[in-house]
Amino acid sequence: MTARPSVHQAATADELLARLRVHGAVPRHVAIIMDGNGRWARERLLPRPLGHRSGMKAVRDVVEGALAAGVEYLSLFAFSQENWQRPATEVGALMSLLEEYIAREVDELREQGVRVRVLGDLARLTPPAARAVERVVGETAGNSRLTLNLFISYGSRAELVRAVRAIAADVAAGTLAPDEIDDATIAQRLYTADCPDPDLLIRTSGELRISNFLLWQIAYTELFISPVLWPDFGRRELFEAIVAYQSRDRRFGRVTV
Ligand code: FPP
Repeated sequence: MTARPSVHQAATADELLARLRVHGAVPRHVAIIMDGNGRWARERLLPRPLGHRSGMKAVRDVVEGALAAGVEYLSLFAFSQENWQRPATEVGALMSLLEEYIAREVDELREQGVRVRVLGDLARLTPPAARAVERVVGETAGNSRLTLNLFISYGSRAELVRAVRAIAADVAAGTLAPDEIDDATIAQRLYTADCPDPDLLIRTSGELRISNFLLWQIAYTELFISPVLWPDFGRRELFEAIVAYQSRDRRFGRVTV
């Protein structure tokens, strides 16, 4: 397994949590590209779906970590549009895991104050997965402590195409003039319309790619690449990323004086 020395390597999750509470502002919105389930399974000579199953446990720990840290929005890239091209057995296993995750977690998520939203082309979900999604979204809709955005069957370019079509339809209908189109016109037509842009984007497993995730929304987002494979990622690693984020100088294209 890859291991890279870190200044916080010896610190426990509790120590890092205490540190981030005094260190600076907590990012309101953390987005994560959860990567490395397949490699985690291969290293253990296990089938890939077992890597995803361990990845599901990591999701639980990271949601609890986000709640403890006071993050308001957590966006997880769980299944891309490209992932539909994986072998049918793996796609089926991922759909079943989504159902299982919701069945296991819905009560606790609701009690913890988590509002779950599932963003993407949901028409492609299997009927049982679609029913599970409807259930968790409906049962947690009244919560506001943490918004958990699960991106399923999602691709950022497709999201932008959808937004452009909606804008074109408004222009064709005469309700929007071309010179009225600005950043907000586009942002309001994305799945993330009512979310602030991510402050911090984490990618696990050391890959240096964005992989068609939130291309519009991450214009000024701070990036954190973790060498840890997703099933081994947890609240400790989340806190480590937040502490690193708190040392960044966010300039949004301006200079600091
Ligand atoms: C990327 O690893 C991960 C995925 C494609 C699936 C992510 C799914 C989970 C974490 C579990 C289910 C989550 C929920 C919310 C129910 P990869 O398979 O591309 O890994 P590799 O690059 O090592 O092959």
